[in-house]
Amino acid sequence: MTDKNLPGHPFITYRNNELYVEDVRLADLARQHGTPLFVYSQGAMLSALAAYQRGFAGRNAQICYAMKANSSLAILQLFARAGCGFDIVSGGELQRVLAAGGNPAKVIFSGVGKTRAEIRLALQADIGCFNVESEAELDAINEVALSLGKTAPVSIRVNPNVDAKTHPYISTGLKDNKFGIAHEHALATYQRAARLPGLKVVGIDCHIGSQITQEDPYLDAMERVLELVQAIEAAGVHLHHIDFGGGLGIDYNGDTPPAADALWAKLLTKLDARGYGDRQLMIEPGRSLVGNAGVCLTEVLYLKPGEQKNFCIVDAAMNDLPRPAMYEAYHQIIPLNPRASQTSIWEVVGPVCESGDWLGHERALAVNAGDQLAVLSAGAYCMSMASNYNTRSRAAEVLVSGNQAHLIRLRETSTDQMRGELLLS
Ligand code: LLP
Repeated sequence: MTDKNLPGHPFITYRNNELYVEDVRLADLARQHGTPLFVYSQGAMLSALAAYQRGFAGRNAQICYAMKANSSLAILQLFARAGCGFDIVSGGELQRVLAAGGNPAKVIFSGVGKTRAEIRLALQADIGCFNVESEAELDAINEVALSLGKTAPVSIRVNPNVDAKTHPYISTGLKDNKFGIAHEHALATYQRAARLPGLKVVGIDCHIGSQITQEDPYLDAMERVLELVQAIEAAGVHLHHIDFGGGLGIDYNGDTPPAADALWAKLLTKLDARGYGDRQLMIEPGRSLVGNAGVCLTEVLYLKPGEQKNFCIVDAAMNDLPRPAMYEAYHQIIPLNPRASQTSIWEVVGPVCESGDWLGHERALAVNAGDQLAVLSAGAYCMSMASNYNTRSRAAEVLVSGNQAHLIRLRETSTDQMRGELLLS
């Protein structure tokens, strides 16, 4: 077999029947570091970022990586060095940005439930902006800012009430979601924010959902947000920046999301036509920067053929890859060294004691125990959502650049897991 590219995964290839990320053979990494193992392509991340950068060429724009997608320090460092800011949703994420050398002035703080301690931490670090999600939160930020003798930069997250046409758990822009301030209340909330002495209104933002694969929801949301910008500014509150959130989808299984630069060409045309093209633009992409840059390597432990179903039991599980169990998400599963033999249909499952612990249903694979598989599209919302359920230690992570492989996270140990726990005296 000669070289073969995988559609949607330009940095992952088969060469002579062996799977590579960039120029590193994955079987070598599995041998060296064990499985389950996350492997990321630096080239894939930077090329995903470059699509946004091309889209914003010549504009005043700030890309804030939504680090909840993958918050490993080396990945944050990579994006910080490439000029990104960060969209954070907790004090813990802020600590990670600081530890990775990110610039706090390029940090925006989203989320419906910021605690006063988190607000204080963010003000002390002089972050760029709080994306505020309720009137009660405006008051809390105002109070904390005044107590510190500071002025908090704020933007209000408006809920444009558009359907992102994605999974209900990751759709956030509809009226019945907990997120943002309803479109019809936004103006009054801005007027209130402008009156609070501890706040400085700097922008407006929206985020309508995740894994969005169509351009219409974005165009509709932009329309709705610009209507508001006009009304808010007519009421005398100037908006320095407009933040359109994240949400652009990736190709998991033949999905066809628009390319970031093509999507932004359309959005910018609309923005220019409405006369707002000169504003500072912000976006908060997560998945589209890292999702298809990562794979999770796993080893087949046992084959358990049955009357109804054949189970292929692997050493990665729902604690490593929670998306199938949580959203019935599809991740491609492919062998590191494809066999020529006939395929059978397998339920690919992990060792966790839950029937919901599956990674793939009805997959055609030619496998034996001891074979290694790669679960694709594992760069986003996998390691960052990994848990210790069943006291399973979280996997190690490797970042590949060309023919170099850097271990960026040690495999967790049981001792790591038990640190901080206390026995009764
Ligand atoms: N900005 C805000 C305010 C968000 O809530 C999110 C994601 C993003 C940006 C980044 O969205 P992205 O570009 O990654 O789609 N765990 C789910 C996804 C949850 C997304 C939560 N918010 C999954 O695995 O599909």
